[in-house]
Amino acid sequence: MRGIVWLKIAAVYFVLGTGLGIYMGATDDHVLFPVHAHLNLLGWVSLALIGLIYQQFPALAGTHLARIQFWVHNLALPPAMLALACYLRGNQSLGPILGITSAAIGVAVVLFAVNLFRNLK
Ligand code: HEM
Ligand code: HEM
Repeated sequence: MRGIVWLKIAAVYFVLGTGLGIYMGATDDHVLFPVHAHLNLLGWVSLALIGLIYQQFPALAGTHLARIQFWVHNLALPPAMLALACYLRGNQSLGPILGITSAAIGVAVVLFAVNLFRNLK
């Protein structure tokens, strides 16, 4: 798992995150600003930074930990953002999904940190 795939997914979040920012500015409806912030920060910025780190240090990118981290982060983030958007629009029933997916992203972050400490030489 090379950094390039992280960077390509990051670019998709950049388009979505700034797209939502432009939509919020254009409509003067800022209710979804936490979705915008986290699409940009957990999507664009975090994925791009991880991708750049994995490109710079390929020994980190090929590990089992990195593969699990990739799938956990990338499978949890889209439902987390959808659940957050629904929550902010008043649908409280998706709170548990938001909690579980947020915790999963937290796990992915810990896996990244463990991978870095174990394998960065
Ligand atoms: C075309 C690009 C962008 C537009 C039009 C835009 C627009 C906005 C708007 C309208 C808000 C809501 C402000 C408020 O209600 O207080 C906002 C908040 C925010 N944006 Fe963006 N944004 C853009 C790009 C970005 C990018 C690239 C990032 C991060 C890398 C970012 C991070 C944030 C954050 C963290 C907040 C929340 C700030 C707070 O806590 O008050 N934005 N943005
Ligand atoms: C699983 C990971 C994360 C969770 C569960 C989380 C959760 C939260 C929560 C609950 C808030 C307060 C929202 C509010 O009061 O409306 C918040 C705000 C914020 N977080 Fe995160 N966060 C996460 C990751 C990150 C990361 C990685 C960054 C930056 C790289 C970040 C940047 C921010 C910023 C700038 C704000 C203020 C803007 C806003 O309210 O949306 N967060 N986050």
